[in-house]
Amino acid sequence: MAEEKTTAALIPPHGGRLIEREVTGEKATAMQEQARSLPAVRLSARALADIELLAIGALSPLSGFMTSGQYRSVVDGMRLPDGLAWSLPITLAASRDEAAALHEGKQVALADESGEPLALLDLEERFDYDKEAEAQTVYRTTEDAHPGVAALYAQGEVLLGGQVTVFRRPPAPFAEHRLSPAQTRAAFAERGWHTVVGFQTRNPVHRAHEYIQKCALEMVDGLLLHPLVGETKQGDIPADVRMRCYEVLLDGYYPKDRVLLSVLPAAMRYAGPREAIFHALVRKNYGCSHFIVGRDHAGVGSYYGTYDAQTIFGEFTQEELGMTPLFFEHSFYCRSCLSMASTKTCPHDADQRVFLSGTRVREMLEAGEVPPAEFTRPEIARILIDATKQAAQTGA
Ligand code: ADX
Repeated sequence: MAEEKTTAALIPPHGGRLIEREVTGEKATAMQEQARSLPAVRLSARALADIELLAIGALSPLSGFMTSGQYRSVVDGMRLPDGLAWSLPITLAASRDEAAALHEGKQVALADESGEPLALLDLEERFDYDKEAEAQTVYRTTEDAHPGVAALYAQGEVLLGGQVTVFRRPPAPFAEHRLSPAQTRAAFAERGWHTVVGFQTRNPVHRAHEYIQKCALEMVDGLLLHPLVGETKQGDIPADVRMRCYEVLLDGYYPKDRVLLSVLPAAMRYAGPREAIFHALVRKNYGCSHFIVGRDHAGVGSYYGTYDAQTIFGEFTQEELGMTPLFFEHSFYCRSCLSMASTKTCPHDADQRVFLSGTRVREMLEAGEVPPAEFTRPEIARILIDATKQAAQTGA
């Protein structure tokens, strides 16, 4: 009872309650049986990730893949038809041939890459969409050099909308860190946290990340270190290597009772500003009252301005988001300040600042060179160098 009271002290999920689209036990067995006699659609890695997110309630209030009304309302206005804030389309694409074999108002089996069904879709609607228009509005570019746009262009021509019910979760790594929103909420309550800051990342935690996390931690009860472990682009550091880095870092440099490490099984879209809103709302579902947005959040190449992912929050009222974004300027170690700092706090010249681009860090790691300790802690650099060496040997 006491636990329930403290869970209630946490921020409510987006839309008011967690919508978990999963059945278990006998119901799941019956559905699995039923699925075998239905037409099936094979899911991409991204759609599989969305299925898991729907199952566990991370995409609340969504209960499935978007119908045309939801899709257009989100793409055009960053709101669901009922006005609730939502920035990214969550869609299921199929080829014209696949879609032609399906019937609106009927059920469809959704299968993993091996063809094994794991969910049912109540197909409400099949509809056409304009990929270039979506690219321009959501990603702010129509160039297929953008990995999110390339994925959009590569997917099927028809979208399938409708409610999803998951009866088998896709097999997934990091089981002990794969907490659902209900589970992170219970963990926060158990620790007595009321305010929690969420941190999205697809990188190892460098000193700048650590700095902004710890600045935030000065203001709230706890930190949810929430690396995204779904599909990322070529060149990004694989999730298993990053997980080793996070564990070592937390062990050595964070107060155990104030940090929870858990993973977000979402695919990366690289949609910059729109994805920052999405990342924040999803973390709200996990129980985060605050969310960190730093420089070029969820960006790629030079498609977005350094702070575009912060200014987009101005397009929503505080009530609409229901949570507090925490914005951080570009952070670095300053040799004159002898500390981590940002342009907001450091008066010294740029040549005093230790900052390395992602490309430069990759080059150093490939050459077996340890980046400066002011940029990355040596324990983390070691893991990254070893992993880079191993990847080179195996050709991965
Ligand atoms: S992201 O694609 O997940 O955003 P990354 O893991 O690099 O990429 O960033 C995680 C978070 O840290 C994002 O909010 C990002 O804006 C922020 N961030 C990364 N590097 C810096 C930095 N040097 N200064 C301030 N914020 C940063």
